[in-house]
Amino acid sequence: MAKILITESVHPIGPELLTAAGHTVVYADRDMDVIRREIVDADAVLVRIIELPGSLLATAKNLKIVSKHGVGYDNIDLDYCKAHGVAVTITPNANSLSVAEHAFTLMLTLAKNIIPVSKEYRTVGFAAKNHAPGIEMTGKTLGLIGMGRIGKHILHMCRDGLDMHVIVYDPYISEVPEGVERVGELSELLRRADVVTLHCLLTDETRKLIDRERLALMKPTALLINCARGPIVDEAALIEALENGRLAGAGLDVTDPEPVAPTSPLFKLPNVIVTPHYAPATVEAATRVSEIAAENINAVLAGKEPAGRIV
Ligand SMILES: NC(=O)c1ccc[n+]([C@@H]2O[C@H](COP(=O)([O-])OP(=O)(O)OC[C@H]3O[C@@H](n4cnc5c(N)ncnc54)[C@H](O)[C@@H]3O)[C@@H](O)[C@H]2O)c1
Repeated sequence: MAKILITESVHPIGPELLTAAGHTVVYADRDMDVIRREIVDADAVLVRIIELPGSLLATAKNLKIVSKHGVGYDNIDLDYCKAHGVAVTITPNANSLSVAEHAFTLMLTLAKNIIPVSKEYRTVGFAAKNHAPGIEMTGKTLGLIGMGRIGKHILHMCRDGLDMHVIVYDPYISEVPEGVERVGELSELLRRADVVTLHCLLTDETRKLIDRERLALMKPTALLINCARGPIVDEAALIEALENGRLAGAGLDVTDPEPVAPTSPLFKLPNVIVTPHYAPATVEAATRVSEIAAENINAVLAGKEPAGRIV
């Protein structure tokens, strides 16, 4: 019987699969004291976004697998895991559709002024219809940064659903689907796009990829959507651009830091929508991700090859 530490809340289906396999499950509910105490003799850790640096993993003497609930593994010290024979798994595709739908929703909600107009309807009444007009997205240009699992879904939603022209910047792909244009320079995408949506990994190369200079290249009418990772955008520069009308709006499911400080201008700016890393929190994705994350643990502990192994 193995001990599994679950650092953050997950859909119950995963823990059920773990206990059905004869394992003991311990919940930390984001409490770092509990994590530090329970990881010491844990055989497996099921983690969402809590940071697992090598210094913490090194205290886990029985650790055989870190199972990421999701796909963004930047919170796990992969070098430590590689060096110490700890498997690391992700749950590819399990939440991609939900994240793409969230990005799509942020884009349209901003474009149509849904939040300010519905608020004004309650306060000023029908005159809210005189709010500044929204934007029609059909035929506009989507700038997609990172055409992986999530990027491909949003590409289809925008190209086939809204007849948008899609331009892609991703230096690591070999081809793009028919009807989609690939650009070699990020600056070209930023200059041309009406909406820029981020779906790349957070790496040393993509940290602050969207900085002050690059924000300045975007159209003042453009929207920026980030459902990837907060540090990909220089948040101070983004706030400045939004405050100065250098950018029309931003839809952010991820921020830097996370959570957003209660005093952050992001909560005050009328042209910003922030959600708390909520994109994959749909019934369907939560179930699939929890299930696959648990199956990965059960596989490794049974000496089998897990589906989502990255280390
Ligand atoms: N909001 C959320 O809760 C949530 C949920 C799931 C995933 N994510 C984020 O979304 C990211 C993408 O997920 P995915 O499943 O599509 O991953 P993926 O690995 O399938 O795709 C990532 C893409 O980014 C590209 N890329 C890498 N470096 C790049 C660069 N410098 N410039 C442009 N593109 C680059 C890769 O070539 C790849 O095509 C994850 O890394 C994660 O950070 C967020």
